[in-house]
Formats: sequence, C-alpha cells, structure tokens
Amino acid sequence: MSDLFDFEREPDEYAVMGNPITHSKSPLIHTAFAEQTRQSIRYRAIQVDPGGFDQAVGNFFAVGGKGLNITVPFKQEAWKLANSLSERARLAGAVNTLKPDDEGKLFGDNTDGIGLVRDLKNNLGVTIADKKILLLGAGGAARGVLSPLVDEHPAQIVIANRTASRAHELAQQFNAQRKNVGLLTGAGFNELGDMQFDIVINATSASLAGDLPPIPADCLANAAIVYDMMYGKNPTPFLVWAKQQGAEQISDGLGMLVEQAAESFFIWRNVKPETQSVIKSIRDKLSAEN
Ligand code: ATR
Repeated sequence: MSDLFDFEREPDEYAVMGNPITHSKSPLIHTAFAEQTRQSIRYRAIQVDPGGFDQAVGNFFAVGGKGLNITVPFKQEAWKLANSLSERARLAGAVNTLKPDDEGKLFGDNTDGIGLVRDLKNNLGVTIADKKILLLGAGGAARGVLSPLVDEHPAQIVIANRTASRAHELAQQFNAQRKNVGLLTGAGFNELGDMQFDIVINATSASLAGDLPPIPADCLANAAIVYDMMYGKNPTPFLVWAKQQGAEQISDGLGMLVEQAAESFFIWRNVKPETQSVIKSIRDKLSAEN
C-alpha cells in the first residue's frame, strides 16, 4: 500500500526567489534534474518585492516547502535569515540555498563557488592548482566564489576591481579568515602592471551593461582561460575581447549555473544529477531564442 501512497503523493515543493526572476533558468534546470533522477518535485520561480523577503521565505516553508534557491538581490538577506550556515556560506557572506531541518530551522549554504570550480575542472578540463588567477570584481559574485577557489590551491589570486579599495578590503579579509596570508592581493584595474594570469574570471556585473572591465591586454598568459560568470545567447563583450587578445579558451557562466544548481539539488535530495546533458540542452534552447 505504501507504493500506492507514494505514487499519489504530491510532489515536494522547491522554488527560486529573486527580483527580477522571470528569466531564471532554475525551474528548467531542476525540472530536468528531477526527471533524470526520478525525483518527485515541483520547482517554481517566485518574484519577491524588496522588503518582503523574510515573510516570503517564512510563508514558503510554513506550507511545507522543502527548499529554496535565493538569487539577486536577496543572497545577503538569506545569509542573515539562516539559523545555521555551511563554512563556505559563512565566508561568502551570502546564501543561495536554504533547507529546513526537522524542527523547521533553516540551514543556509552557498553553492556558487563549487559550481564555478566544477565547471572549470570537470566540464572545461582546467587545472586550478598552482595557477595564477585574476578575479575581476569585489561584489557579492566575487566574494561568493573565493573560498572554493582557494580550496583548489592556486599559486596566487589577484582581485581587481574598478573601486580598488573594495578589492584591497576583500583580499585582506580573506587572507585573515583563511590564514592564507599573501595568497590573495587586491588591486585596481590600473594597478595590474605587467602581471600575467593563467585564469581570468569576470565576476563584475559589467557585462550586464555591455561593458568590459578595462584590464591590460597583455595580462593574459600563454594558453590563458577566460571565464565570464554571465551568460547569454551570444558571447559577452568580455569574452569577445579575450578571444581577440588570444585567449586559448573562453567560457561563459552557463556551466556554473547548472553546476551550482546540481549542488543545491544534492543538498536537498541527496542525489547527484548528471550535468553535461542539461548544460547542452539549455545551450540549445538559448541558441534558438530570438
Ligand atoms: P554582485 O553581487 O553581482 O557582485 P555588486 O555587489 O553590486 O553585485 O558588485 C558589482 C561588481 O561589478 C563590483 O565589483 C563593481 O565594481 P565597483 O565595486 O567599482 O562598483 C563591478 N562593476 C559593475 N559595473 C562595472 C563596470 N561597468 N565596469 C567594471 N566593473 C563594474
């Protein structure tokens, strides 16, 4: 009889909350994961008004919701709201995954950084260990990926930002927290001198405005990989620029999006979905969009 009961049970409820949220690919990705792993879930996108985040989260879990993804601009609020945090979320100062425990207390995690690292390593074949990394940006997106990048033991990470002081502060903070004195340095875009990097990651929001961070063309080492966390139908201006400067490999952030989703799915369901076919199917859908 229990089989029959399971068969008739309502799917478990999940959602992503953000603003704006209409273009979110998360429902598509999680629905694909659920079909692939035969998990009975429903995943929606919920637009939340500024000032209404805590209430929206409370309502969602009060009616039995099983897990939430949190996106712009609520990741810091989610961090404050969570009752407990993973170490990587604590360091990131931001939460993109919420899960209630049996007593309804909220556990907050951040899967963005591991999503980036897995995309680089597993999908793009990039080795991070011993490499020199240039991370562009010092906002939430940059902060969110720092700790999983440091875990891969790169030779160096330079954080460069339009407002140099934010980059200096972030580097200092992480060096102190991670006891990795000297691994991270902060810089302004015009302070990179003749430094060269094996991996350049754009974590600024410049691509949203069609801009590119003004970094020196010769900062790309031989065989450099250039990664933009943004994605779209066409390569971002930053990736077009990188190709023109001779980058060996360029990638947008679609793989990171799917990988961070896979880690959230694992946290909620304890099942690891296969990601490459999902990346491909979303890439195909993007290409077909007008
Ligand atoms: P997010 O959470 O997406 O990182 P954020 O905290 O507002 O958003 O940070 C945006 C980042 O993109 C910052 O590093 C910002 O630089 P400043 O600190 O100088 O503001 C960077 N950024 C935004 N627009 C940019 C542009 N047109 N060129 C270069 N950097 C830009």
